[in-house]
Amino acid sequence: MIIGFIGYGEVSSALSKILIENGAIVKTSSQERSEKTKERISNCSIEDVESLEELSYSSDILISANIPSKSKYIAKKYGKIAKGIFLDLNNISPNKTEEISDIVGENFVDGAIIGKVDSPNSVIFVSGKNSYKIAILNNFGLNIKVISHNIGDASKIKMLRSVYTKGISAFLIETFKIAENMDLKDQLFKTIAISEGDNFIPSSKSRIKNSLKHSKRKYEEVDEILEFLNKYKKESGKDFNLDLMEAIKNTFKEKKN
Ligand SMILES: NC(=O)c1ccc[n+]([C@@H]2O[C@H](COP(=O)([O-])OP(=O)(O)OC[C@H]3O[C@@H](n4cnc5c(N)ncnc54)[C@H](OP(=O)(O)O)[C@@H]3O)[C@@H](O)[C@H]2O)c1
Repeated sequence: MIIGFIGYGEVSSALSKILIENGAIVKTSSQERSEKTKERISNCSIEDVESLEELSYSSDILISANIPSKSKYIAKKYGKIAKGIFLDLNNISPNKTEEISDIVGENFVDGAIIGKVDSPNSVIFVSGKNSYKIAILNNFGLNIKVISHNIGDASKIKMLRSVYTKGISAFLIETFKIAENMDLKDQLFKTIAISEGDNFIPSSKSRIKNSLKHSKRKYEEVDEILEFLNKYKKESGKDFNLDLMEAIKNTFKEKKN
C-alpha cells in the first residue's frame, strides 16, 4: 500500500508515523516546499519523490493535506491525474468539497479530521462511493470512519460540529463578559462547575482565550458556514432557523479587530 501526501505538515507527519509503523509505504515530494517542510521530510523515513506529478501517478491513495485555499488548485492539478483514490483532508466547506468532486470525479473521497490530528481521540470521517477503499487504512493503524456514500457528508458533519463548538464559545464569551461587568466572573466559573464538573473551569477558560485570539478566523469560518446554510436552505426548501448562527457570527465580528 503506497500512500502519497501532498503537503507535509502537522497532519501528514502525524499520519505517516502511524502508517509506517503499521507497514505502509509513505511518499511525498519536497519540490518547491519551504525549508521547514523539507527538514520535516528529511527527518522521517519516507520517500521524497521528484515531483507531485510522480507522486500522483505512483500512489494507491493520494492525500491532500496542505492549506484550504490551495485545495481546489491541487485537486485540479494532481487529483485529476491520480492513479488511485484522491482524499482531501483540508478544512474546507461542503461547497468546496462538491467543487473538488466535480473536478476529480469517481476517485474522489471526502475526508474530515475530527479533533486535533495528534490527539488519541481523533477520527477521520470519510464519505463517497469509494470511501470503503480509504477504510482499508484502519489496517494500517489509522482511525477511519465511513459516514456514507455521499460526497459532502463528511464535510457537512464537520461543519455542523463546528457550528456547535463555535456556538458554545460565543455563548461563553458573552456570558462571562456580562459576569465580569458585574464583578462575578470567578464566582460564575465556580457556580457552573458545581453541575458541569471541575474540568469546566480550565476548559471554558481555554475556549474563551483561544476564541478571542482567533476571532478573525472564527468570524470568517462562521461567515462561510452561514453562506453554505443559507444556500442549502434556499435550494432544499427545508425549514430551519439561522438567527442564532448570525448572532454567533456577530460575537466574533465584534471581537475581530
Ligand atoms: N492539524 C490538525 O490537527 C488539522 C485538523 C483538521 C484539519 N486540518 C487541515 O489539514 C490541512 C493541513 O494541516 P496541517 O496542520 O498539516 O498544516 P501545516 O502544518 O501548516 O502544513 C501544511 C503543509 O502543506 C504544505 N503546502 C502549502 N501549500 C502547498 C502547495 N501548494 N502544494 C503542496 N504543499 C503545500 C506546506 O508546505 P510549506 O511549508 O512549503 O508551506 C506544509 O508542508 C489544513 O487544511 C488544515 O486545515 C488540520
